[in-house]
Amino acid sequence: MRAVDIIIKKRDHLELTKEEIEFFIQGISRGEIPDYQVSAWAMAVLLNGMTPREITDLTLAMAHSGEVLDLSKVVPIAVDKHSTGGVGDKTTLVVEPAVAACGLAVGKMSGRGLGFSGGTLDKLESIPGYRTNLSREEFLAQLKTLGVVLTGQSGDLAPADGKLYALRDVTGTVQSIPLIASSVMSKKIAAGAQAIVLDVKVGLGAFMQTLDDARQLSEQMVAIGRLSGRKTVALLSDMNQPLGCAVGNALELMEAIDTLHGGGPADFREHCLTVASYMLVLGNKAPDLDAARMMAEKAIASGAAWEKFRELVKAQGGDVATIDQPERLPRARLVKVLEAPADGWIAEVHARRVGEIAVELGAGRAKKTDPVDPAVGIMVHVKVGNAVKKGQPLFTVHANHETLLKKASEDLLASLAWSHETCQPLPLFYGVIGADQL
Ligand code: URA
Repeated sequence: MRAVDIIIKKRDHLELTKEEIEFFIQGISRGEIPDYQVSAWAMAVLLNGMTPREITDLTLAMAHSGEVLDLSKVVPIAVDKHSTGGVGDKTTLVVEPAVAACGLAVGKMSGRGLGFSGGTLDKLESIPGYRTNLSREEFLAQLKTLGVVLTGQSGDLAPADGKLYALRDVTGTVQSIPLIASSVMSKKIAAGAQAIVLDVKVGLGAFMQTLDDARQLSEQMVAIGRLSGRKTVALLSDMNQPLGCAVGNALELMEAIDTLHGGGPADFREHCLTVASYMLVLGNKAPDLDAARMMAEKAIASGAAWEKFRELVKAQGGDVATIDQPERLPRARLVKVLEAPADGWIAEVHARRVGEIAVELGAGRAKKTDPVDPAVGIMVHVKVGNAVKKGQPLFTVHANHETLLKKASEDLLASLAWSHETCQPLPLFYGVIGADQL
């Protein structure tokens, strides 16, 4: 078999066999297929799609490209969550410790920023010393002793996805239902959790722009979860405007810390409580969503969730002093508040543009080898539906270069759409796929 023939077959709209998919994925993980062929194949998949059978075979091949953990040997039941990627989405940083504080084990492998969307690992690495490269043994040991792990894809878990993900980020091949479904679910299957909550973002700042696409992706992922014996539920959540206020690594971490202390923006807090509730029900910790929500609220109000987060940071080598005193986290040199030029109502805060502007400031990558600047980013002070008075703060820009600050300021003002009449606020969620498993 030759990689080039598999690329040609996909280019010509033909269905790949299980053997061809396995050959290609094994070739990626062994480093035998060069980046240019992997990229060409990813583009062919993006353009020509895959059948449900191909997507399942691709997911399983990627999950089995490394080790598949069996967490049932370590904890009675473990739950996992995964977001398909958005702007300002720091949910994991709050829900993982909150759920773990309720006594349900959470073991998670997170990703880095992808395109305009942020990544949990980049946010966590704002904490000096925090290790995101735990080995399999460390992952299992920490899950057993602490009940919570938040690490990156270690080399031995779904390695093919790790390589493919980094290439897709810089070759314009992220927005593909087969590639996203297989990427997310291969990691979930390899990480071994028996219950999985998927946070599928939809809208201007998501890889899925329409509700139809988001539904299709969710159905595909829930079906793969079922086939591999995992209870899987997908929440369809809004990503037309950024979630919460902070966009940028250390800024988002600070907002998550606030939320763990019982504060945080209302939309973000509500989003976290909903995701945590589904995790608690799916993981058999709570009989229904109302009871689960009360548990999650209590974990935050009592300080137990915050304490769990501290333990997590400590266990993974992070400097706890920087989260106890977030003012010690990386800070940008230049901070500028952008004010409303006139009265009006906010009709749109274009999440994708805000995400792209944060990347241009240095919070994300243009090429896979680029470093990220943990300090830079944007605080978004307005939401769709808000009535705004002239002079009111719209954004605060945190930058490390004058020219980038100037450009970001202009672009941010252009990312808003205004109305002269009242506008409806956006909902947080649009639906749930797989609710029959609750
Ligand atoms: N999240 C993932 O893990 N993979 C994708 O492809 C997109 C979002």
